[in-house]
Amino acid sequence: MVYQIYPRSFQDSDGDGIGDLPGIASRIDHIAGLGVDAIWLSPFYPSPFADGGYDVSDFMDVDPRLGTVAEVRALAEAAHARGIALLLDVVPCHTSIEHPWFREHPDRYVWADSPPNNWRAAFGGPAWTRDAATGCWYLHSFFPEQPDLDWRNPAVVEAMQDVIRFWLEQGADGFRLDAIDRLAKHPDMVDDAPRAEPFPFPEPPDVAALDRRHSSHWPPGIAAPLRALRSAAGGAFLVGEVYRPTAELGPYLEHLDTAFVFELMFAPWRADALATVIERGAGLGRASWMLSNHDFSRVGSRIGEGAMRVAAMLLLTLPGTAFIYQGDEIGMLDGPGGDPPEDRAGRDRARHPMQWSHDPAGGFTSGAAWLPPVDPAARNVADHEAAPGSLLRLYKALIELRRTLRGDLELVEADRDGLLVYRRGEATVALNLGLRERRLAPAGELLLATGPDAGPGRLPPGAGVVTRRSG
Ligand code: NOJ
Repeated sequence: MVYQIYPRSFQDSDGDGIGDLPGIASRIDHIAGLGVDAIWLSPFYPSPFADGGYDVSDFMDVDPRLGTVAEVRALAEAAHARGIALLLDVVPCHTSIEHPWFREHPDRYVWADSPPNNWRAAFGGPAWTRDAATGCWYLHSFFPEQPDLDWRNPAVVEAMQDVIRFWLEQGADGFRLDAIDRLAKHPDMVDDAPRAEPFPFPEPPDVAALDRRHSSHWPPGIAAPLRALRSAAGGAFLVGEVYRPTAELGPYLEHLDTAFVFELMFAPWRADALATVIERGAGLGRASWMLSNHDFSRVGSRIGEGAMRVAAMLLLTLPGTAFIYQGDEIGMLDGPGGDPPEDRAGRDRARHPMQWSHDPAGGFTSGAAWLPPVDPAARNVADHEAAPGSLLRLYKALIELRRTLRGDLELVEADRDGLLVYRRGEATVALNLGLRERRLAPAGELLLATGPDAGPGRLPPGAGVVTRRSG
């Protein structure tokens, strides 16, 4: 179980309106109270924040607005004292254009005299931008402020290995590897072909029109960078962000402990579609599941507030690793974003501050929050702690139950009306994702229900139960 923290939005400790590392440390008991095994911090490195911190200008330091390296060490200690591991975000594909390497070591980037191919950047538009200083064009898989590193250059490989070793020395226990499929590019810069089948995840239309098999995820290029990262990390936990269908995760899992199954996030909220996704993901043996993160609409906004409980039961009863994004445990929904927007790719909505209490700033800051709180009076941690039937209490109960679940996922039933049933060893999970109440045959001892309206025999819409076979 991993809890994802977006550091700028978790807890501010100094009143500047930006969340920081001491703020996270001050909330460690909330995280420990959930019962998770690890936290993953999205980047806290020095950054001009053209891409929310994923544009890093120094991989071995902390942005002064967010803290210091000593505070990373202190947070690691505080987490370890509670039996919680610390996972950091490593961004090996690119740097910020303000990283000193861009001028001091241009050979660490990918250059051309003119755009050599049709590659597109992830947020839309060409993946090549002309550098005014040199007149040459550089490659960027994401924003133009994020030039891609050239992994064919051994100096890049060694520098990134040093980054991993540095943070291990500060107390990190593992890493989430950002955009790891982008390291493997066709060395001859061959055009991407038009896509025959639609890509199953959200992409801008110009990106979706192409099969990104040469600009990224180039099969012969996947192993070498992963081997280098694994060699630096040793036995540390590595989870890959691979924005590809589940069927394509195999080569990454040869080197990583696990990889995110994005299909769960984007599957239609139907029992039959989800059954396919969870069987396929579980088939990997080492899936990482999540329903929200800092890049996409929150689960409650995508599938509706009424389905948040059953969604939590689904997420937390799947085999493998489950990730909770901060705020999902109190049912936070998408916010309006910044005005003007902070993120050019429209992701502010999922990055509003964590809501701890009733006060207008949600207990997040004593100053003016960098993104306004959404609705702290309506949902906050303090209220959820106090209310016996709260979503937060359900999350805690599910995480406790999760520890007892054993065995592979075995699909029992997925019908057109929304009933999804699967087994984990002796436990049976029955989820009603449909619109009408369902009756179930008695299925043994009730281990947990999403609410008092649900029981072993009765499942209203949006409810779920976990039972144990008797006899
Ligand atoms: C994936 C990260 O989650 C996202 O926030 C970022 O924009 C891209 N990778 C590029 O680093």
